[in-house]
Amino acid sequence: MSTVQTKNKSNWLLNFLSSTIGRKLLMALTGTFLILFLLVHLIGNLQLLIPDDGKSFNEYAYFMGHNKFIQFVSIGNFFFIVLHIIVSIVLTLANQKARPVQYAYQAKDQKSSAASRQMMVLGSIILLFLIMHLAHFWAKSKFGGLTDIELTGGVKGHNLYAETVAVFKEWWIVAIYVVCMIGVAFHLLHGFQSAFQTFGLNHQKYTPLIKTVGLAFAILVPFLYALIPLLIFIQNQ
Ligand code: HEM
Repeated sequence: MSTVQTKNKSNWLLNFLSSTIGRKLLMALTGTFLILFLLVHLIGNLQLLIPDDGKSFNEYAYFMGHNKFIQFVSIGNFFFIVLHIIVSIVLTLANQKARPVQYAYQAKDQKSSAASRQMMVLGSIILLFLIMHLAHFWAKSKFGGLTDIELTGGVKGHNLYAETVAVFKEWWIVAIYVVCMIGVAFHLLHGFQSAFQTFGLNHQKYTPLIKTVGLAFAILVPFLYALIPLLIFIQNQ
């Protein structure tokens, strides 16, 4: 392939990504990856509720922290979080610029701008939550501050279970988690809808089913996330 052809191709990609539809597609794709992360993270975290003094959870955390593939996915995860945030800001700024105030009829426009404003507010709350959450667990796990425990086969691993119990002993932290999970639920509710729209999902038979699954996910997943700190708090009173 000639240099001109390669340049044309990369120009096309750059043009596409800087178009509104390209950015919307990026939001939907990164959002879909983060939704999958939320599901896998929840399944792992539910092990905190197994009554075995944290054995299963600590073994799982050790595996997640030492498996090369998971470490690679984890880097991708942080990359997608940052990309999702950056593209959302760029899209909002572009929408503001493209929407002249002098339109006579704005009902539909106003509705969608209210929805995107709501998404930005919810997204910002989730970002603040994430900073607090990573400081509690991820940072201590990576940079020190956790006690060690002997795992199966005599291997030493972090006692992340003990840390989780210590964090969720504080009622106000539990309250923050519960409130933020309500935010996650609303963010997901709208996120699913706009991703469906962006992907152009329009099938007579399957679209209603996909929408129902999206709705169930947006309610059930944050509910289970909120249940974990609540139950740990109650168990440790
Ligand atoms: C009850 C709720 C939750 C618990 C108990 C929990 C627990 C944890 C723990 C223990 C870690 C550290 C893992 C390690 O580094 O070894 C972690 C990492 C993380 N959590 Fe959570 N989490 C919860 C909810 C959430 C939610 C709702 C989100 C997103 C909105 C989230 C996003 C993350 C991210 C992005 C990481 C870093 C993952 C990585 O290293 O790739 N967590 N969480």
